[in-house]
Amino acid sequence: LDKGNTDMPVNTIEWINNKVRIIDQTELPLKTIYKEYSTPQEVWEAIKKLRVRGAPAIGVAGAFGVCLGIQTSTSTSYPAFKQELDTVADYLKNCRPTAVNLSWAIERMRRTSEDNKSLPIDKLINILKAEAIRIFEEDKLMCRQMGEFGATLIQDGWTVLTHCNAGGLATADYGTALAVIYKAVEQGKNIKVYADETRPLLQGARLTAWELMQNGIDVTVICDNMAAMVMGQGKINAVFVGADRIARNGDTANKIGTYGVAILAKHHRIPFYIVAPSSTIDPNIPDGAHIPIEERAAEEITCGFGKQTAPDGVKVYNPAFDVTPAGLITAWVTDKGILQPPFDKN
Ligand code: MRU
Repeated sequence: LDKGNTDMPVNTIEWINNKVRIIDQTELPLKTIYKEYSTPQEVWEAIKKLRVRGAPAIGVAGAFGVCLGIQTSTSTSYPAFKQELDTVADYLKNCRPTAVNLSWAIERMRRTSEDNKSLPIDKLINILKAEAIRIFEEDKLMCRQMGEFGATLIQDGWTVLTHCNAGGLATADYGTALAVIYKAVEQGKNIKVYADETRPLLQGARLTAWELMQNGIDVTVICDNMAAMVMGQGKINAVFVGADRIARNGDTANKIGTYGVAILAKHHRIPFYIVAPSSTIDPNIPDGAHIPIEERAAEEITCGFGKQTAPDGVKVYNPAFDVTPAGLITAWVTDKGILQPPFDKN
């Protein structure tokens, strides 16, 4: 693992002393508060409330959450143990629907259990913990690989635009879309970033801006509705964003607003790249219409961060993700290489 010279200012998620430790992202950028969890219920709440968020990070959280649920099991037979595992796996898997990494990691835990079902339960528990740590370590490696591949697409002196937070805070290491930027900067390129603030929960303004500043990277925050103007002014050379689920035909779900950014990029003839690990590709889903889209509480829009900004009782639609059709995507940067369209064929 080439650690380069970019070290994350924080550890987003870790497994320490048989507990899960996360940085509570709802407190950023004002406070860096770490929380330790010893039950799957606490991990479920942390995923739901976006204390830990971003597709790869919630996959890791899901795997660690399964470990919390089974590590003190007193089952003496595999069927009894399996029932415990299935209960906690199903519970965590349904916490957030769009990022496939969550179900991918949990299904991997279930498969590991099945593959080792002949072992004594205490040994099986250790194997499951090792598997969760492997998921975490592999995610780190994939971040570095995406960075390597993606950095070849960025030229010295470029300014790139990103949406939401696809950085260290969304993964076990230094991100997906932001990995590309970190790597390009490590290579000595002079790179500037425009970060969409990302309504309604401001992952761009709160998290991406904070994370890039911690790493000394030149970042400018804009409101989401300013991206067209900034592109029209010729300020953006490329767009790099992350993904929560990529369908078999390349249609890609990511944070709400990404689809609009892709349309703007197309209009301005700016390359639009998705950066995602292979754990974000869902081979079971033919196209974007089949990707489940999470809808969140109305209050996130009407009363964001505690201030009421819409009338009492108004109707609200709050999808947390949208789907960018494959045709708007210039290429997908993965840990295995850069995938050019057509996605399904290549
Ligand atoms: O609701 P969030 O903050 O979990 O949404 C996160 C995103 O949409 C990210 O862009 C995506 O997970 C990629 S993270 C590497």
